[in-house]
Amino acid sequence: MSPAPFPLGPPPYPLGAPLVRREGREKVTGTARYAAEHTPPGCAYAWPVPATVARGRVTAVDTAAALALPGVCAVLTHENALRLGEADDPTLSLLQDDRVPHRGWYVALAVADSLEAARAAADAVRVGYAPEPHDVLLTTGHPRMYEPGTANGGHPGTRERGDFETAFAAAPFIVDATYTVPPLHNHPMEPHASTARWTDGHLTVHDSSQGATKVCEDLAALFRIDAREVTVVSEHVGGGFGSKGTPRPQVVLAAMAAHHTGRPVKLSLPRREMPAAVGHRAPTVQRVRLGAGADGVLTALSHEIATHTSTVKEFVEQAAVPARVMYTSPNSRTVHRVVPLDVPTPSWMRAPGEAPGMYALESAMDELAVALDIDPVDLRIRNEPDTEPDSDRAFSSRHLVGALREGAERFGWQSRDPRPAVRRQGDLLLGTGVAAATYPVLIAPSAAEAHAAADGSYRIRINATDIGTGARTVLAQVAAAALAVPEDLIRIEIGSSDLPPAMLAGGSAGTASWGWAVHRAGMELRARLRDHVGPLPADGLTAAADTRQEVAAGSPYARHSFGATFAEVQVDTVTGEVRARRLLGVYAAGRILNSRTARSQFIGGMTMGLGMALMEGSGLDPVFGDFAERDLASYHVPACADVPRIEAYWLDEEDPHLNPMGSKGIGEIGIVGTAAALANAVRHATGVRLRDLPLTPDKVL
Ligand code: MOS
Repeated sequence: MSPAPFPLGPPPYPLGAPLVRREGREKVTGTARYAAEHTPPGCAYAWPVPATVARGRVTAVDTAAALALPGVCAVLTHENALRLGEADDPTLSLLQDDRVPHRGWYVALAVADSLEAARAAADAVRVGYAPEPHDVLLTTGHPRMYEPGTANGGHPGTRERGDFETAFAAAPFIVDATYTVPPLHNHPMEPHASTARWTDGHLTVHDSSQGATKVCEDLAALFRIDAREVTVVSEHVGGGFGSKGTPRPQVVLAAMAAHHTGRPVKLSLPRREMPAAVGHRAPTVQRVRLGAGADGVLTALSHEIATHTSTVKEFVEQAAVPARVMYTSPNSRTVHRVVPLDVPTPSWMRAPGEAPGMYALESAMDELAVALDIDPVDLRIRNEPDTEPDSDRAFSSRHLVGALREGAERFGWQSRDPRPAVRRQGDLLLGTGVAAATYPVLIAPSAAEAHAAADGSYRIRINATDIGTGARTVLAQVAAAALAVPEDLIRIEIGSSDLPPAMLAGGSAGTASWGWAVHRAGMELRARLRDHVGPLPADGLTAAADTRQEVAAGSPYARHSFGATFAEVQVDTVTGEVRARRLLGVYAAGRILNSRTARSQFIGGMTMGLGMALMEGSGLDPVFGDFAERDLASYHVPACADVPRIEAYWLDEEDPHLNPMGSKGIGEIGIVGTAAALANAVRHATGVRLRDLPLTPDKVL
């Protein structure tokens, strides 16, 4: 590997150092302001009215009782709401017509002097419906199921290589198994919230968003104004996991209500309405077929997934995509099928595609290991490709084998007895499992500005977003390395659409995309400072950079992060409860830029994978046409007591084909292998293969 090309900062070298989050004190002392914590003078409060039928038309909205309540200033409906312009996302076309495409679709919005009055008014709105028959159940043989041309992320819906059917029929060892993942919900701690106000034709919103640039553009299109007349601020964001990656109803509704009433308006979505309003991970039914010789080398691989989307918009969970990256097989088929149902529109949830897809593929690899009596770590190593199977491109770097070996070593895998159901502790059965992980390296153009002030301090401006990851801190580290100055001299300004436009905090691409622009601006400023003679002018020196050209140039390499996840579980034979005892991940994700915040991203992802494996999931009630589990009392996410000994490590991977920092993304890969590692451990513990997540006691018993 060639040495990394990036500049070294002054000692202590800032890249990789475990600096604490710059805004940590503000957050833990409660002084950090989130979107709903801004209360401009005269602020009104909004509360939405969701549809109570799963499909049909609104025939009448009676707002008289609501408007008669004290403190109520308006009720917006499709009859009196502002006509919006075109946005590229039809889920934002709110209160524009009488159509109800799914239960929970917003049909009215109450606005009042207080939150309590707004809520009472929303309850008092009487909506009449002409319901139509609805269909919310995903079945693989659904008559309206089709093969989409592309899956989410622009991936081809179907890929074929060689002749899968013939090779599978001829294979001496096969696996043919179907796995299901239910709908999953993002449920960030901070609900989707906005505070909006219009001042002399200028719209300013504080929005809980993963990227204010896109929110700004969409609001400008919807309200038919110039993007310069819109300011979107997302200063602090309490998580998103993809659900805040695009503008959501709250920001449009708050801006509409503020426009309608002439007052600032605040709207925070009720937790129980979020599943229907902010996207979800679509359920998948995944059939994986593997064929191999006695040596364990794959000769046939097929991954076919069926999923749902809404009637509003096509979103296809790209769960068969990781099978195009992971293992060599001369004959392969990867197919997506989707059916539009009368359900809320699915969207991104942490590692869309990879998280559910790798659950199925890595479970099937474990089944193959059992069938062949080959160690599952070894089986994966035997199927390590030389080039990316889908494209035959060289990998920029691929250290899956290294991650598996180091993980096995750290976990103590070598002493594992492969026999199932033989480790007993009283009523408990114990087992261990392993799974691989992958996530693509994504990058998007971003612009940044670096400024040197006359007093010797520096400032970086870029519309990056901190969704809890520590974006400010790592960008200060990147800037310090480029400028060769101590990081504490650098002020970081992020979280506003008035700043130079940048990638959203998503696709595990934030730090790479922003960092590249910050690096370039920093290097440019450093060069100008070097050439400058005499004291700086009173207004300092500024350099700007954007990465449009570099990003458009692309790369001839297949670029992905890899990882290996190991898990130990206990299964209670009396209650059926599965508990994780130990989770250990080793990741190969390029250069790690801040070991403290990176570790917290890895273990956060692994924790979410633990939830996916053991407790998270909702069902669509066929009668009501709605998610049955809509709050945190019924949709269970891991609490601290559920999270066992959890360890994340990484390999020092030097990859010169990425960006000037040499980083890959780390936000999503932690979730990817975790569910399969846990499910494989449950099989090892019990001898029973369960293929429907989550592995709740009712299924285990
Ligand atoms: Mo992530 S699902 O790209 O925010």
